[in-house]
Amino acid sequence: MGTRRVLVTGCSSGIGLAVAARLAKDELRRFKVVATMRDLRKRGPLEKAAGDSLNKTLEIKQLDACCEASIRECVNSLPDRRVDVLVNNAGVGMIGPLECQSIDAMKNLFDTNFFGLARLVKELLPDMKRRQSGHIVVMSSVMGIQGLLFNDVYSASKFAVEGFCESLAVQAMKFSIKTTLVEPGPVVTEFERKVYEDAEKMDLSGTDEETAKIFREVYLPYSKKIFSSLGQTPEEVAEQTVKVITAKEPPLRHQTNRLYMPMTALKHADPTGRLPLDTFYKMIFKHDSVFNATLGVLRMLQRSTGKK
Ligand SMILES: NC(=O)c1ccc[n+]([C@@H]2O[C@H](COP(=O)([O-])OP(=O)(O)OC[C@H]3O[C@@H](n4cnc5c(N)ncnc54)[C@H](OP(=O)(O)O)[C@@H]3O)[C@@H](O)[C@H]2O)c1
Repeated sequence: MGTRRVLVTGCSSGIGLAVAARLAKDELRRFKVVATMRDLRKRGPLEKAAGDSLNKTLEIKQLDACCEASIRECVNSLPDRRVDVLVNNAGVGMIGPLECQSIDAMKNLFDTNFFGLARLVKELLPDMKRRQSGHIVVMSSVMGIQGLLFNDVYSASKFAVEGFCESLAVQAMKFSIKTTLVEPGPVVTEFERKVYEDAEKMDLSGTDEETAKIFREVYLPYSKKIFSSLGQTPEEVAEQTVKVITAKEPPLRHQTNRLYMPMTALKHADPTGRLPLDTFYKMIFKHDSVFNATLGVLRMLQRSTGKK
């Protein structure tokens, strides 16, 4: 296989930045990376991470996942419009009681997380079909498998992404195009900082006192503990994304965090949905000590294996 051109979205920070830099520095020089971001004024950290690969195996271009014209302009600027691998990574988060979130904010989240993917795939799929090759890699989430308290809208957007890819993958296969959903658990990035910052400032007057209390006093501390205990680095997710991209037979789904797998496995263990529902309910509302002990064991496992 010759050099493959990889277009990555959302490279100003976090996972997108790490994936772009890792691919550009590939020792075997297997990739030409088109690292995109919506605001080029934020290119500094990526330029630093790219180091010597900048303007050699990595070029930076503007692309806003919410704007069809900007996507087309970026793709048109590439020789033969050729993109061998799309890494659809751009995404935004949202947490909190549903009653405190506006429908406009929910639509904006879907515009990036779901319609951003739909726009990119619409632009690239016809060319990939003509060439009978390509790989669509999508940064989903474990929340695309298993919904989580106070993540209703974010989780819904990732479920949409999962359904979209699962449907598309069959047609894509007919044209020798591969599809992979990368499903990270918690990853310590700007994403986490932004959602917690928003949560601290959130006006909770739109909901009842009990819900506000659960969000502030139960959900937020638990969630922060999960990030500090199980959180991966963006570089770890990037490493696994590269493995997926270079695999001979890439999987449709790849979970990056082995420590989170017992949570997602609950979903498949009981088709009625009762098992994951009861387990999450008990973990959050009934068994503070069980929750803390479980995290303790997972942390120990993490230290002893040196892996996540
Ligand atoms: N962090 C986690 O715990 C976690 C877990 C599972 C999955 N994920 C997923 O991983 C992906 C990357 O998240 P991250 O953790 O790396 O967060 P991050 O550091 O906040 O990065 C998100 C990136 O998406 C970009 N973006 C947002 N809206 C965009 C748009 N309309 N067009 C183009 N780029 C846009 C951001 O650009 P700006 O700087 O301009 O805002 C930023 O570069 C997301 O899809 C997220 O859902 C994250």
